[in-house]
Parts: sequence; C-alpha cells; structure tokens
Amino acid sequence: MADLTVKIGDLSFANPVLPAAGPNVMKLEQMLDAVEGGVGGIVTKTVSREPAVYPKPCIAKGPCDGLLNCETWADKPWRSYLEDYKKVKQTGVPLICSIGYSPEDVAELGKGLEAEVRPDGIEFSTHYVGKTLDPLKKVADALKNSVSCPVWMKVSPSTPDIPEMAKVMSGYVDGFVAINSVGPALDFNINDPRPMLGTEDGHGWLSGPAIMGTALYCVFQISQAQDKPVIGVGGIRTGEDAVKFIMAGASLVGVCSEAIRKGPSVYGKIAREMGDWMDRKGYKAIDDIRGLYSSKVFGRSR
Ligand SMILES: Cc1cc2nc3c(=O)[nH]c(=O)nc-3n(C[C@H](O)[C@H](O)[C@H](O)COP(=O)(O)O)c2cc1C
Repeated sequence: MADLTVKIGDLSFANPVLPAAGPNVMKLEQMLDAVEGGVGGIVTKTVSREPAVYPKPCIAKGPCDGLLNCETWADKPWRSYLEDYKKVKQTGVPLICSIGYSPEDVAELGKGLEAEVRPDGIEFSTHYVGKTLDPLKKVADALKNSVSCPVWMKVSPSTPDIPEMAKVMSGYVDGFVAINSVGPALDFNINDPRPMLGTEDGHGWLSGPAIMGTALYCVFQISQAQDKPVIGVGGIRTGEDAVKFIMAGASLVGVCSEAIRKGPSVYGKIAREMGDWMDRKGYKAIDDIRGLYSSKVFGRSR
C-alpha cells in the first residue's frame, strides 16, 4: 500500500486529506466525526473577534454540481470554541485553527489560541482583507509576530496577480491554502426564479466541482512561484481529483463542499482512493507524484 503520510516542517499528517474551513468543521462533534472519517488533520471553521451575522439561508445548490454560500465566518464568540479545539487536539491529529481578519483580530486570536490550545498551525482567511498586497502583509505580519506555530494564508481567487502575491507573501507565511470560494456568483431555479440565499439579491460564493479548474491553476501558479507548501482546495470529490492537485504542486488537499453533501466519511474515502490509484500505477509515496504536472511542463517540478 502506498505511503500517504505527508511531512510539512515538524508536522506529520497520516494522509493528505483535510477538511477545508466551513460549516462541516464548526462543532466539536463534526470535528471528531471528521477524525473518525479518516482526515489527515483538522482545519476549523474560521472564527474572528466578533461573531459573524450572516443572512439565512446561507447555503444553496449552485450551478454545475456546486454550492453557493454566504456563510462568512463562525457566528459564536471565538472563545466559546476553545474547549472544543482542546478536545480535538487530544485526538492527536494536527489541528489547524482558521481565523480572520484584521491585524488586530489575528493578533488577539493568535495569542489566545497559542496560550490556551497550542494549535499545530493557524490559517488566516484573506476573504475580507482586500486584494492588494499591503493589507495582506500587515495581517500576516501581525499574526507571525503573535504566534510561534506555522501560519498558512488562505488565498482568495479574486487576488489579481497570483504569482506576484505568492512570491511576496512567501516571505511572510509558512504555507498557502488555495482557494476560497469564487464569486460573487448566482444561481436560481427557472421553475421558481427567486433568490435561494438570504442575501438581498441572492448572490453568494461558488464552491464544489464548478471551481476545480480555477483552483488547480491557482495551486500550480503558487507552487511555481515560491517554495512554501500549498494546500489545494476547490471541487475535490475523489481520490483522483486529490492526486491532480498534488501533481499540480500541492502537499495536502482540503475538502469542503463534498463533505457538506456526503458527510465526514468522504475524507477517508478520498484518501483510500488516492492510495488505490497510486498502488495501481506503482507510486510508493506522495513525494513521487508531487509536482509531476510541472515537471512535464518545465522538465522539473519547480
Ligand atoms: C458553506 C461554506 C462555508 C465556508 N466557510 C469558510 C470559512 O469560514 N473560512 C474559509 O476560509 N473558507 C470557507 N469556505 C470555503 C471553503 O473552505 C473552500 O475554500 C471552498 O468551499 C472550496 O472548496 P470546496 O470546493 O471543496 O468546497 C466555506 C465554503 C462553504 C461552501
């Protein structure tokens, strides 16, 4: 059986499949179910200093088997999640806490999480931070100066120049998570044409298979532009989808929409399918397939 373990710095993941931040990793039971379902590590739902207030309904079916959402971040005070995080940490799988958004927010949350939970890593969402590099640098700086654990940056697909962003931000962070949901986007039912989400005009953010091509290219570009690890997220439903992201340069993958639709057993299923595919093709370890696409394009993996 192929070896699915992935090492990133001091962190060791039993397999490359993580939940991506979302409603499927909001509650303790969900995170424990994800561990039971075979994840290689846990990424939590994003929390911020102020609880989110978002319109309901906040998830609906989207085009091309995708989902539309307007869920923003967690709607409870961030401190109310600390006991849950501690219990997840006790399971022994690496715990990555997702936080946002301003420099002040991430500094306070980063310090609090390190003091109380000691997560294995912290991911910060850039969804509401702005598209230019200056605000991104300020948030990354504030977080790096507040914690000692690795810091990953969640990339928004609307970032204008991905390679330039990756080059610059690799000086500030320890890894990239790409991509967040894509939008704004719209869908509705032609037999009942009215908004499906609670936003005023029904717009939301698209995820699932509809965004996989965009996510793959983003992962490819980030891995080409710099050396820090990339966690590929966007539309993954099967082990072969996940293999594709690793070949595009990712070290780990994240799954959100498929877990919302099918439940926490999808993580282990995707990992097993990766292993089966690698066995059939004679690949022994994740390192044997990482960056294979790039090496076909450029004759080298980077
Ligand atoms: C309902 C919903 C809520 C989400 N909430 C968050 C969040 O709190 N923080 C975040 O960084 N990304 C969030 N995302 C984005 C996902 O983590 C992921 O980047 C995106 O959905 C693409 O992956 P997928 O196609 O596997 O869903 C959310 C996505 C959905 C569908």
